[in-house]
Parts: sequence; structure tokens; C-alpha cells
Amino acid sequence: MNFFDAWCVLKKINTIPMSKRIVIAGISSLMISLNAFAADPDISKLPPAAKQTGMTYDKDIKPLFEKSCLKCHGPEKPKSKYRVDSREAAIKGGSSDEAAVIPGKSEKSPLVLYVADLVEEMEMPPKDKRDQYPPLKPEQIGLIRAWIDQGAK
Ligand code: HEC
Repeated sequence: MNFFDAWCVLKKINTIPMSKRIVIAGISSLMISLNAFAADPDISKLPPAAKQTGMTYDKDIKPLFEKSCLKCHGPEKPKSKYRVDSREAAIKGGSSDEAAVIPGKSEKSPLVLYVADLVEEMEMPPKDKRDQYPPLKPEQIGLIRAWIDQGAK
């Protein structure tokens, strides 16, 4: 943008009434803060995927969910309509309408980001309920990652 263009833009802004300018400023700052809210989680903080191979939901993953998730995400009134008691449901997700597990991509799977506390307000189990529901250990998150990366069978 050269000096003349910049001058024209400034002149245009001056023709917008003050009340509208305030609204525009408000909308812009709202969009900036919404952007910050949706900031990409820092996946460098994820525990590494375990080396274990041949993993399946029934054998390796379901038992991990039992203590920490099943009370809230089981058959009875599941929170956010999300259930972890079957492979299909655990992958599908709940009322967010977003898949909880993206087979092959553990670092993009919301479930992994939530259990690793990388998404504010979506830490799972919820931070204020951890006296009853223990959070998963880094090694357990590593096992879930390995399962997802191997295709979430
Ligand atoms: C004390 C109850 C509780 C426990 C325990 C719990 N959650 Fe949640 N979970 C919630 C609530 C409440 C929401 C909805 C949060 C929101 O949308 O603000 C939720 C939402 C979710 C979602 C988003 C579902 C969707 O698509 O809407 C996922 C994924 C999830 N939980 C995974 C887990 C996992 C995995 C565990 C176990 C490690 C777990 N949760 C343990 C209460 C719980």
C-alpha cells in the first residue's frame, strides 16, 4: 500500500460515524478473542505414543476408560451424549457433532487432546471431579495414542 492508498483508507474511516466505528472496533476485538479461544492446542505437550502393537479397543482401551470415564460416559444419561462403552460410540463423539477419535491421527483426536488437558474447559475427566475420577497417566494416554495411530481397531 502506498501513501496515497493509505490516505484514502484514512479518509474513508473518517466518513464512518463514530457510533459505527465503535461497533466495528467491538466486532474486530471479539473476532480476535474468539480466534485466541480456538487456538491450536500445543501438541508438543502430548505424551508420546506407546510402542505396543496389535492393539484393540476391547483388549487394551476399554479397561482404561472404566475408572476415569465410564460413570459419565456410559449407557446411563451420558454427559454430552457421549459414550465410551463401545468402540463405535467412542470414535463417533457426542453432541459436539465432532468425531472424538480420528483413526490414524491421535494428535488430532479431540479425545486425546482432552485427556491430556490441552483444551481449556474440556479437560477430561473434568478438573473439579478428579477426586472421584482419576486422570489418565501419561503412559495410558500413550497407549490410547498408539491404538488410534494403528487405526483404532
Ligand atoms: C464427571 C463426569 C465426567 C467424566 C468422569 C468424564 N467426562 Fe468427558 N465430559 C463430561 C462433560 C460434562 C462433557 C461436556 C463438556 C462440555 O461440552 O462443556 C464431556 C465431554 C466429553 C467429550 C466431548 C463429547 C462430544 O462430542 O460432545 C469427550 C470426547 C469426553 N468427554 C471424553 C472423556 C474421556 C475420554 C473421559 C475419561 C478419561 C471423560 N470424558 C471423563 C463429563 C465427564
